[in-house]
Amino acid sequence: MTTPRNAPITIAPSLLSADFARLGEEVRAVLAAGADWIHFDVMDNHYVPNLTVGPLVCEAIKLHVGAHLIDVHLMVEPVDAIVPMFARAGAGVISFHPEASRHVDRTLALIRDHGCLAGLVFNPATPLHWLDHVMDKLDLILLMSVNPGFGGQSFIPSTLAKLREVRTRIDRHVAAGGQPIKLEVDGGVKPDNIRSIAAAGADTFVAGSAIFGKPDYAAVIKEMRTQAAANFLG
Ligand code: DX5
Ligand code: ZN
Repeated sequence: MTTPRNAPITIAPSLLSADFARLGEEVRAVLAAGADWIHFDVMDNHYVPNLTVGPLVCEAIKLHVGAHLIDVHLMVEPVDAIVPMFARAGAGVISFHPEASRHVDRTLALIRDHGCLAGLVFNPATPLHWLDHVMDKLDLILLMSVNPGFGGQSFIPSTLAKLREVRTRIDRHVAAGGQPIKLEVDGGVKPDNIRSIAAAGADTFVAGSAIFGKPDYAAVIKEMRTQAAANFLG
């Protein structure tokens, strides 16, 4: 385990499990409960078999996030045309799946050119070779620990080995003078498995049903943070 001790932990609740009829209220509540980022899942019924929300809704919640980042997870194909729309709608991070873009390097540059942090997302079966030539263009790497499209699925255990592999790549990149890159995990993250996920090298944790399914958001977020940090205490 090579994650630096005291590495900051970022908790990013996924709005997919929030009450969509009260979205602004849900965003304010989860941030007041201690969340860091708001994870915003964009599905197009083409790249994934589900349909969610677009830039208009992102712009609407921007009014409720204050200085917190909106972490836009694009599950759409193609990608490029929608990037500027989300940048204008207030996205802080924009991540996409490499196999959904014809020109990955160009899409990464497009995201940064629009003033956002850029991320690449890997499905459970997507190989890591997509990282080989773009490490300097990344602010975040997101490993899916479920197949994308739905909230409430179970964490796929082989993600832990994949996280360790990416952590090694990031540490090697930073040791060679490269920029920091956050390592995010998305799908089936809960208070009772976050410690082993953090031990495998993740520092940024998406959780939808674990938080929005519960009556006390603050209690869940506090427990997740405590469990994730416990990993750094040995
Ligand atoms: C799935 C989404 C996830 C999802 C996570 O395609 O990308 O962000 O909302 O939900 P949970 O935490 O319930 O697995
Ligand atoms: Zn997501």
